This record gives sequence, structure tokens and C-alpha cells, in this order.
Amino acid sequence: MASSDFARLPGFRDFAPDEMALRRHVFGAWGRVARRYAFRQYDGPPLEPLELYVEKSGEEIVGQLYAFTDRGGREVAMRPEMTPSLARILAERSRAMPKPIRWFSTPQLFRYERQQRGRLREHFQWNVDIVGEAGVSADAEVLAVALDGLRELGLGPDDVRARVSDRRLLAAILDGLGVSPDDHVAAFGVIDKVERQPRERSLERLTDEAGMSSAAAETLLSLLEEGDIDDVRTTFGDHPAVGEALDGFEAYLGLLDALGFGAFIDFDLRIVRGLAYYTGIVFEVFDARGELRAVCGGGRYDRLLELVGGQPLPAVGFGMGDVVLTELLRDLDRLPDVAPGVDYFIAIIGDDLRPRALDLARQLRDAGSSVAYPLKSQAVRKQFKAAENEGAKRVIVMAPDEVERGEAVVRDMESGWERTVSLDRLVGALEGE
Ligand code: HAM
Repeated sequence: MASSDFARLPGFRDFAPDEMALRRHVFGAWGRVARRYAFRQYDGPPLEPLELYVEKSGEEIVGQLYAFTDRGGREVAMRPEMTPSLARILAERSRAMPKPIRWFSTPQLFRYERQQRGRLREHFQWNVDIVGEAGVSADAEVLAVALDGLRELGLGPDDVRARVSDRRLLAAILDGLGVSPDDHVAAFGVIDKVERQPRERSLERLTDEAGMSSAAAETLLSLLEEGDIDDVRTTFGDHPAVGEALDGFEAYLGLLDALGFGAFIDFDLRIVRGLAYYTGIVFEVFDARGELRAVCGGGRYDRLLELVGGQPLPAVGFGMGDVVLTELLRDLDRLPDVAPGVDYFIAIIGDDLRPRALDLARQLRDAGSSVAYPLKSQAVRKQFKAAENEGAKRVIVMAPDEVERGEAVVRDMESGWERTVSLDRLVGALEGE
């Protein structure tokens, strides 16, 4: 069998220690920020009933499912996103829980995507959701968590932008433009693609698929391209649903300002989100240079819990993917140095001293330090090379003459400074520094 028969599947990743250290760096920031905002961690199974995703997630994700029939004849799917699982978990238990529910998770998700930069077939996603609060304060809180997570990793408003919109506002605008409610889904579909298709094609699709007049389609496209909140108010101010949606939206922006994230936010009606369940404010966070896919996406989904058989509860949340985020951090040179680093390397000169060296290693490890030593007899030069490879901060040299006197030489690898320390007091003396 050729070795390539065992190659990793396309779109999947191995995490050798360096990559694993970066993953831990990102997960560490996510966990710290979630806790600062009083979210509690949960998880669910990676395999779910296929039905959980059909209709609820929308065509795009359903077309990318890893789905199969299990040995018991059940139709199952690897989870492509966490939100339906969250809805399912809460459908079973939310009645007895105090609201709002603030939960976060970092699941590994699976989507059979066409491979391109930032898209893999497996990724980790930070999910943060508030369930049981319908007001915009919950919408502001979750976007603040997302942006603080990025800030924790060293990204500011010059690096990432949150593009925010509201599906209710967009629906009210469509209504103001005479689009029948039956055609809203089709119009949303075209709007979702506006940035990725030529303007002429968008105009054509808005008239063909959403039944809009050319004039209405033109007004809509201009608003999408450069409209700010004032333009929307001027054009549709008299429409009560637009006015109501705008008031809520402005309150939301005010809260984000108060939370310290105003500088990250851009109003952008082109953000509708591909997933089927969103019902209100929606957002996506992108790199400011616009080179990568979205780092994060989310919004309000007030009907999903009911759809999976739970009590009707309003909900809002987001998912932030590790793939795009790590690429962005790498592009901006904000990833930490992940070179290994042990506290001590014990160099053993002469195998007779090995038991003494191992005893010292045990004492240092018991005191909480990380310690490595050569697993076989080696020349001193090689041992110092190994210490360097381990990123050792100090090398303790166990040599016959010194050990005979009850001492060892300790070298600080950064400064090169050496001193002789009594073996009896070595652990206490070094640990105390
Ligand atoms: P989503 O927009 O499908 O939302 O995914 C959120 C983020 O996950 C994306 O912005 C992207 O960074 C990352 N992502 C998605 N697919 C891939 C992929 N194939 N490869 C790499 N990264 C990917 C959701 O999944 C919603 N369930 C989020 C949510 C939570 N809404 C409310 N609560």
C-alpha cells in the first residue's frame, strides 16, 4: 500500500504541538472573555439526528452535511454548526432554568465545503448565545463578547470591522418598496450575494426572482451600497415598521457604544446571513482589509427553540471560527511565539549519576517545574544542544566531581551565567527565584 493511502483527508487538520499551542492560545482567549461576560460552558454530541438540520439551518448547510445511516438505521449527521444542538439541549431543559441563559461552547464542526482559503471541512467555532431575552441589550451584549474576544487576541478597530444589520429592518424596507412577503426570502437570497455578483446581475435577479420593479430594485441597491441610517430614515421614514426597526437598531448601537465597541461597528444592510433561522439583528465580523472570509457571524433567532419542540424563547448569539481567525492573526503578525520552553534540562555526565539526576527531576517536578533530561547516554555538547531544542531556561549539570561534593552547576541559558548550588538546597533555592 502506498503511503499516500494514509494521507490526511482533504480539508482536515493535524495539530502538531506548534499548531496545538496556537489553538490553545485562541481557545484560552475565548474562554477568558466568555467568563468575564458571565457565560457558562456547555457541549453536546458531535453526531446528531439529520432532521435537526433539515429546514432549520437552510439549504446551504444541508448541502454540506456529512450524513449517513447508522447501524441502527438512524439518519444522522456530524454537526455542521452548534445552534440547532443548543436549541435541542435547551428544548429539553429550559423550562426549569432561570432566564436569561448565557452559555458558550467551542465545538468542532464538520461541513463538506469546496476548499478555499479560510474554508476547511472541519473547524472549531466559539459559540456564545443568550437565550430568553428579546431586548436589544442581549444583542449588544453578544456582539460585545465577540469583539472583546478579538481584542483579547490583540485585534482593534483598525484590524476588524463588525458589519451589522437587521433582517426586520430589511423586511420593512422591502415592504416599503412594495415587495410581497412571499418574495422576501428570494430578495434576501439575492441581497446576501450582492457583493459577490455584478450589479447588473443583482438588478436582474431582484426583478426576476423577487418580483421587484426596476425602479424599486435600483433604490434598494443604492441603499445597500452606500445607505446609512439617516438615508433609510429619509427614504422610508413614514413607514411605521421601518421607523420601529430603526429605533431599536439605534438603541442597539447606543448600547454597543456604552460597552466600548462603537469604533468597531459599521451599519451595512448587505449583511443578511445565509442561515435560515435569523429573525432580527444580524452581524458578521471581517478583517478590515477585506481579504478574508468572515471571522464571525451571528444574530437573533427567536423562533428556533420552538421549531425544535421547546418552549418559545427568544435567542441571540454568534459563531467565531478558528480557521479564519488564525489566518488573520498570522497575516497581522499577532500570533505568539510558540517555541517549547521547559524550566530545567538536567545534563548527566556519566551514567552512574542517572539515578541522582532522576531523583532531582522528580523533586523539581513535584515542586511544579517542567523538567527534561537525556533518555540515553550522550556527549555534553549534544546534551546542551538538546537543552536548546527544549527551550530550557536553565541547565543543571550533574558531573562526578561536583556531585561528589554534593553540588551541581546551574547555567542560565539566556544570560550564560553559571553558579554552583548545593544539591540538598537546589530545589528550594531555584524554586524560590
Ligand atoms: P456561520 O456563519 O455558518 O454561523 O459560521 C460562523 C463562522 O464560522 C464563520 O464566520 C467562519 O469564520 C466559521 N466557519 C464556518 N464554516 C467554516 C468552514 N467550513 N471552515 C472554516 N471556518 C468556517 C453559524 O454557524 C451559526 N450557527 C452561528 C450562530 C451561533 N448564530 C447564532 N448563534
